[in-house]
Amino acid sequence: MHFFITGGAGFIGCNLAAHHLQQGNTVTVFDNLSRLGTQHNLAWLRQNFSDINLKFVQGDIRDFETLLLAVSNAQPTLLYHLAGQVAVTTSVQNPREDFEINALGTFNVLEAARMQNTPPAVFYASTNKVYGGMEDIVTTLEGNRYIYRDYPTGISEQQPLDFHSPYGCSKGSGDQYVRDYARIYNLKTVVFRQSCIYGERQFGVTDQGWVAHFIIAAITGKPITIYGDGKQVRDLLYVQDLIQAYEAAYIHLDKAAGQALMLGEGQSMPYQFGQSSVKF
Ligand SMILES: NC(=O)c1ccc[n+]([C@@H]2O[C@H](COP(=O)([O-])OP(=O)(O)OC[C@H]3O[C@@H](n4cnc5c(N)ncnc54)[C@H](O)[C@@H]3O)[C@@H](O)[C@H]2O)c1
Repeated sequence: MHFFITGGAGFIGCNLAAHHLQQGNTVTVFDNLSRLGTQHNLAWLRQNFSDINLKFVQGDIRDFETLLLAVSNAQPTLLYHLAGQVAVTTSVQNPREDFEINALGTFNVLEAARMQNTPPAVFYASTNKVYGGMEDIVTTLEGNRYIYRDYPTGISEQQPLDFHSPYGCSKGSGDQYVRDYARIYNLKTVVFRQSCIYGERQFGVTDQGWVAHFIIAAITGKPITIYGDGKQVRDLLYVQDLIQAYEAAYIHLDKAAGQALMLGEGQSMPYQFGQSSVKF
């Protein structure tokens, strides 16, 4: 199979590319290499896999012609759209750039897919931030951590959308376009509203990828800033479990297409690696 990954030199993208390449598939990585660490990720992929199976196109999803040509050349079966402006802070500083990358860029990806004679399935890495601040949901303190008083197992996809921040709006806009292309154009699209993903090859900074940032800071003896009272809780999902969930969605594409799915580790305790909580 041929997989096309926008943002394929990023943290999730390079793990996903390696996963498919290990299984003998062909992968096109489409990335503008704007993110810190992407050169290392690309070099790592190139060290481990031959350029017969690993294709790289340096391009920007805002540049529709380049993107369309790359997708047309690749003729992928499945297109993962992971490229994006990923930090809330940067989106507030430069909302136009954020919009152009996340909203227009996602639109370009959908159009490039739709224009193929045999359109690929499109999987979109959305975010649980599309639910906003969820001010209506009551949290209570239990020991050292806050919990949702009325939702002990977490929030479902029934939660109303409420885009906060330019990042929330641009990712949310992409999220809704991806869903709608399944409705209107019958594209096999799936939206994944992901929680915090962690794992190997994440070059985290304060603004994004905080798990890696905490670990790098701890190892290098740098200070860590804790916001709030430190009792807030975040869902974390291991990158290989995320990839398993993508695979499960592809295997069950007939049921998954057109859906927007929450994707996180959830409350299943104790944690066992390799066990995805996604069920179809
Ligand atoms: N990591 C998480 O915790 C998390 C959580 C929810 C959603 N997501 C989403 O998953 C996707 C991947 O996240 P990640 O953690 O791997 O981020 P990342 O920053 O490591 O990867 C994003 C990649 O996109 C590339 N890119 C950025 N702008 C581009 C452009 N205009 N054209 C082409 N390439 C461009 C970057 O160079 C980078 O390689 C993002 O869309 C992000 O919003 C991530």
